[in-house]
Amino acid sequence: MSTAEQINPPPRLLMGPGPINADPRVLRAMSAQLVGQYDPAMTACMTETMGLYREVFRTSNEQTFLVDGTSRAGIEAALVSLIVPGDRVLVPVFGRFGHLLAEIAQRCEAEVHTIEVEWGQVFTPEQIEAAVVSVRPAVLAIVQGDTATTMCQPLADLGEICRRHDVLLYCDATASLGGNDFELDGWGIDIATAGLQKCLGGPSGSAPISVSPRAVEVIDGRKHVEAGIAEADDIGRGPRIGSNYLDLAMVMDYWGPRRLNHHTEATSMLYAARECARLLVAEGMDTAIRRHRLHGAAMLAGVQGLGLEVFGDVSHKMNNVVAVVIPDGLDGDGARTAMLEDFGIEIGTSFGPLRGRVWRIGTMGHNARKDAVLVTLAALEQVLRAGGADVTAGGGVGAAREVYAR
Ligand SMILES: Cc1ncc(COP(=O)(O)O)c(C=O)c1O
Repeated sequence: MSTAEQINPPPRLLMGPGPINADPRVLRAMSAQLVGQYDPAMTACMTETMGLYREVFRTSNEQTFLVDGTSRAGIEAALVSLIVPGDRVLVPVFGRFGHLLAEIAQRCEAEVHTIEVEWGQVFTPEQIEAAVVSVRPAVLAIVQGDTATTMCQPLADLGEICRRHDVLLYCDATASLGGNDFELDGWGIDIATAGLQKCLGGPSGSAPISVSPRAVEVIDGRKHVEAGIAEADDIGRGPRIGSNYLDLAMVMDYWGPRRLNHHTEATSMLYAARECARLLVAEGMDTAIRRHRLHGAAMLAGVQGLGLEVFGDVSHKMNNVVAVVIPDGLDGDGARTAMLEDFGIEIGTSFGPLRGRVWRIGTMGHNARKDAVLVTLAALEQVLRAGGADVTAGGGVGAAREVYAR
């Protein structure tokens, strides 16, 4: 007989680079009862969710919906639906997730070209345009906020560059959307994807996506409806998209007026995604971004007030995460364990070239709050002190409070 007990996770304050604690209102929305796939209540909920995400992405794109799966399902859906095998794809890489875009594009059998800057830096538009001119890609794929380095790539000029050179622009805004400026239409981005578990304040498992009319045209030009549901005028055209589940041509028909069956929509995640967007829109997108900016600035001032060094070009840091250099001689993993075991607070480790060198501390979504920032800084001071680090007594909380007092 199974001895598994009812699930009862320990109370934690998740102050890493995401996931974060879901907003309780999102958890409540997820516990709402299911309805059938074509129940008018369900289709109305899908339509409302599309409208809410248009506001979150700041777009009038009709094709704004959800891909079921974590953020990388959204990334894969965008890239596999856009890229025809053999297409040239340019990926400017400034951290882990640029490498992920390049890898996914390779799996889509693109001819992938990358340019790189050192971790902790971002690209200038001139560097990107020079690469566009020399590579002449069909698609430029770029991350906005890379949680691995905490950098936020400026995007405002890229849409215009891409249009001038007839390139489609894809952006992974998983870690940044909702907490940093993002203007899908204003910046001329063709497809953007995100996830719920960062600034949107939900659990991972749903990937909001928005697709511009010119990207829709490319994707619809590759539409091959599944044999079992195709109708007489569903004549397949163009090179078929290499995934069924992530075929945006079919997923758009499912979300669109045709409501052509595809997968069974993940209803509880739809409720979660709808509530995440509803909360952000009710708060106001500008207000939500300002909230992330304020609490991110308080956390930054706080770690600096403790005497800690911050990694990377701080002028391009995302609002919602900071990378803190682990003081020499301190056991970084031991300190994270003490934060978790003694205070119930999770802070993040790091990857690749930053492994063992920095912790990543987030202030995002439901946890972009004054109490969460101050408690984390107070606990960090104690843990650093216990580990033998030389920290300024009260310097973290004090510096953060000064930011709040401004
Ligand atoms: C920028 C970025 N892209 C993609 C991902 C992958 O997201 P997921 O783990 O939800 O698939 C993450 C996750 O941290 C991310 O920060």
